[in-house]
Amino acid sequence: IAQNNTFKIGLILPMTGQQASTGRQIEAAAKLYMAQNGDTVAGKKVELIVKDDTSIPDVTKRLAQELIVSDKVNVLAGFGITPSALATAPLATKSKTPMVVMAAATSSITQASPYVVRTSFTLAQAAVAMGDWAPKNGIKKVVTLVSDYGPGIDAEKYFKERFVFNGGQVSESLRVPLRGPDFAPFLQKVRDIKPDALFVFVPSGAGAAVMKQFLERGMDKAGIKLIGTGDITDDDQLNDMGDGALGVVTSHHYSTAHPSAVNKKFVDAFAKANPSLRPNFMAVGGYDGMRVIYEALKATKGQGGGDALLAAMKGQIFESPRGPMFIDAQTRDVVHNIYLRKVEKKDGQLYNVEFDVIKDVKDPGKAK
Ligand code: DHB
Repeated sequence: IAQNNTFKIGLILPMTGQQASTGRQIEAAAKLYMAQNGDTVAGKKVELIVKDDTSIPDVTKRLAQELIVSDKVNVLAGFGITPSALATAPLATKSKTPMVVMAAATSSITQASPYVVRTSFTLAQAAVAMGDWAPKNGIKKVVTLVSDYGPGIDAEKYFKERFVFNGGQVSESLRVPLRGPDFAPFLQKVRDIKPDALFVFVPSGAGAAVMKQFLERGMDKAGIKLIGTGDITDDDQLNDMGDGALGVVTSHHYSTAHPSAVNKKFVDAFAKANPSLRPNFMAVGGYDGMRVIYEALKATKGQGGGDALLAAMKGQIFESPRGPMFIDAQTRDVVHNIYLRKVEKKDGQLYNVEFDVIKDVKDPGKAK
C-alpha cells in the first residue's frame, strides 16, 4: 500500500513503568475500536503505531518528534500523564498535527496547543462534584492528599474551593511525590488530625497502594471516610482491593458498571478480547479518542490535512460507554456527565455503582 493511502496514528503511551496500566488499557481499547470498526476508513488504511514513552516527558517528546518527522503520522494520540502531554503540545502546534489526549487530565493541557483535543476528562470536573456531595452528606472537615503535579493540584484546588463554599473546612492539604510515593507518614498525620474524611487524588494505578495503607492503618475504623475522584477506586484495580473498599464514594465520568446498553456491549467486547482485564476510565478515553479520529477521517473523506482533521474533531457529539459526551468546539475539551458512585459488591465482584449524576459538565477550569 502506497504511503498516501495510509492514515497513521502515532499512539504514545506508558507501556512500562509506574503508569503501565494506563498504556495497557488504552492500547487494548484502541485495538478493540479498530477490530470493531475496520482498518479501512474513507479509502485509507489506518495504521496504529504504538510507542512506549515510559511516562518520561523527554521521551514522549522525542518519540513525538520522530513520529511527526520520520513516520509522517496524521494524528498523535495517547499521553498517559500531564507532563508528557505538555512536553509534546508545542510539537503539535509547530507541525499542525492534531493531538488527541486520551488519558492526561490537567485542565490547562487544552490551552497548551490549539491542536489538542481531549477525550479523557479533567480533575476539576470530578472534584467539584465531590465538593458539592460531601458537605450534604455529613462530611464537614476534610484533609486532602494529592499527587504533587498538575492533576493533583487541580483536584485539590477545585475540591477545596467548592467544599469551602459549601461550608466545609479543609484542615490540611498534603501533597505526595508522583514517583514512588510513600503514603505512610502522610496517613499518620491524617490519623492525628482525625477529619471526617480524607479526599484523595492519585493517578490511575496508584489507588490500590493508598487503599491498602489506609486500611492497614485502621483509618476507617478510626471513623475517617475515604473520598476522592474515581482515580482512587480505579476499575483496573478495584476488584483486588478487598472488602475494605466497600462503601467508598467517589465522583467520576466512567464506571465499568455504568448501566447502559452501549457500555455493556463495550465491557463485554473488551473482556472477550482481554480476558484478564476490566476496562477502566483510561480504556474509555482511548476508545472514544479512536472514534473521534475515525469520524474526523470520514468527515474529511480521507483528504484532510491537520487543520481539516482538527476542525472535524471539534464539536463531535456521541454516546460513549461513559454516557453522552461531546467535544466542546471552543475549548476542544470533553463535556460529559459526572457520576457519584459507591463501591458495592455484585456477583462477588467490586464495582463503582452510580447513584447520582450531574449532567453535561464542562471543565470548570475554563469557565470565565
Ligand atoms: C493523570 C494521570 C492519571 O493516571 C489520572 O488518573 C489522572 C490524571 C495526568 O497525569 O494527567
